[in-house]
Formats: sequence, structure tokens, C-alpha cells
Amino acid sequence: MHPISFGSDNHSGAHPLILKAIETANNGFWHGYGEEEYSEKVQNKIAAMFGKNAKAMFLMTGTGANVLALQSLIKSYEAIFCAETSHINMHEAGAVQKFTQSRLITIPTTDGKLTKELIIPHINLMADQHMSQPRIISISQATEYGTVYSLNEIKALADFAHANKMLLYIDGARLANAAISLGCTMEEMTAQCGVDLVSFGATKNGCLFGEALIFINHDSAAADAVYYRKQLTQLISKMRYITLQMETYIENDLWKETALHANQMAQYLAERLSEIKNITITQPVQVNAVFAIFPKEIIPPLQEKYHFYTWNEARYEVRLMCSWNTTKDMINAFIKDIVA
Ligand SMILES: Cc1ncc(COP(=O)(O)O)c(C=O)c1O
Repeated sequence: MHPISFGSDNHSGAHPLILKAIETANNGFWHGYGEEEYSEKVQNKIAAMFGKNAKAMFLMTGTGANVLALQSLIKSYEAIFCAETSHINMHEAGAVQKFTQSRLITIPTTDGKLTKELIIPHINLMADQHMSQPRIISISQATEYGTVYSLNEIKALADFAHANKMLLYIDGARLANAAISLGCTMEEMTAQCGVDLVSFGATKNGCLFGEALIFINHDSAAADAVYYRKQLTQLISKMRYITLQMETYIENDLWKETALHANQMAQYLAERLSEIKNITITQPVQVNAVFAIFPKEIIPPLQEKYHFYTWNEARYEVRLMCSWNTTKDMINAFIKDIVA
């Protein structure tokens, strides 16, 4: 246990309102596998947020949501474009490749964001029967670098995908933080931009566990996904522990409150760091992540007291994550130790 961690937004606990929801789920007897009344209630709330045709499936993990999304859209001879730094490429132990048997085409970027210009040269090489065929563009919103696609950038990628018989998937482990950063609704950021599928993360933003995978206008993929979810072992019998969390997360706009706080803390952290000589912030701070190059000698002693990761060992770039329960006092203590 670390009293203060900037290691991950997963390192924080669950919000008290979420623990209350867990308590409610714990009382009495409920149908299993999402057949209790809360699943339908949450479905309606998701449709109100993401557009009337949106259909949600609930899972335990973000990796599960990514795999289920991609598996329900792809054949084994097709390919997925993603940023080299994407979670599906770097941190899922090949889960997407294992379950979809398809090819990941990983594209280097400077800020974690894909553009059609970065994808086109790859598509041009995929014209014949010897090649995996382009099928999905997978982006993360917010990206693994804490950067955010604008609505125009998402729309441009969706239009480009559709013009090339592809689909656009968003890994939304930090979708809440991105929506707060853009000041838009979920529907504006997804359905109205032409996004096909999106995951809506909850674990990193104050829930205990649980993610929703949202099919926008894709009924047949959603029908297949029911069975793929079971095969992926993500159909949990006590689903009410997820749906009741989701209902609380959405009902009181809890997701907005927690994401806003996490984003504001990252802004504050970035402001304080930028006052320190020899520290360079390397990415725009748009959500709850700060990437910065630290003098190499200060990293090990700081890491003894605070948990955080060195993202790029070669250039001493660290990743500092804030979450719904990061406080200014924690940041002030960290800054004090940096300058000491
Ligand atoms: C962008 C992104 N997507 C997906 C995930 C996967 O989440 P999980 O660890 O719940 O599988 C993470 C977790 O760190 C993430 O950062």
C-alpha cells in the first residue's frame, strides 16, 4: 500500500457512493447474468447518453471490453490499425490477437493519436489476396499519452474508416475524462461522430470494477457478442454488482464529478511541475495524466516514497496519473520532495 500514488488511476479506491451500490447489490436475492431489473434500467440510461440505438454489454475488465469489441467485428483474415502505444498492443499480452486471430498493424505516433494520413500508406500495401484486409481502426479516447481526439478528428477517422469499408472502435477506458476535457456529451463524441463501437470505462474513474461495451447501430455484432462474452469468461453470474455500480455512476453524473476532479488535479500537478527547473512536460495535459522528463537522479528516491512509473527509461520520462481521490495536498507533498 502507498499512501500516495501517481502510478495509475486504478490505484485509487472506489467512491463511497459506489460502495453503497455494492451494499444494495448485496441485499436479498437477484437473478444472475444480467437478468435483474437494473440491467434494463442501465441500458436505458446508456441509450440516453450515447444515442437511442446504443446497446450496452457489461464486463469486468477493460481488456475484456477491447477483445469483445474487436472479436465481434472482425474475421481472422482482417486487420486492426492501432497506435503503437495503444493498450491493445502494449499491455494486453496479445489477448486481441489470441481471440480474434487477426493482425494488429501498429503505427508509431508522437502523441498516441492516429490520423488517416498515418494509416493510408499501410492500406496502400494491403491491396491483394496475400495481405490481411483492413477492417478496424482502434483508437483510445483519451489516449495512453493522456491526449484527446477532438470531435472533428474522431469524425474524420470515422468517415475515413467507412469510406474504406472499415469500422471505428474507441477504447474508452478513460472516456469520461475525455468528455470532460472536450466539454461534450457522450453522444456527440461517439454516435454523432460516426463511431461504431465504444467502451465506457468505470474502474479507473471511481468504480470498484466494471466496464460497458456499447454497440452503436450494430445489432448483429451485438448479437454475436453475447456468445463471445461467454467464451471470454466475461459473463459474470453476479452481474448486479456491475449494473448497480453503473447505475450509480451514471445516475448522479458521478462519472462527471470524478473525471472532472482527476483532470483538475492533473492540471494542478502540471502547473506545479512547470515551475521547476529541469523538468519538461512532454505531452499536452488534457485529461488526468502528466508525462514529464525528470532529472534521472531524482527518480529513484522519489519512487521510494511515491509510486509512479517511468514510461520511457531511455529519456527518463515518467507518467503521473491523478484520480478521483488525488488531493492538492498530495501533489504539494510530492512537489516539496522534488525541490528538496
Ligand atoms: C487505455 C486502456 N485501455 C484498456 C485498459 C484495460 O483495463 P483492464 O486492466 O481493466 O483490463 C487500460 C488499463 O490500464 C487502459 O489504460
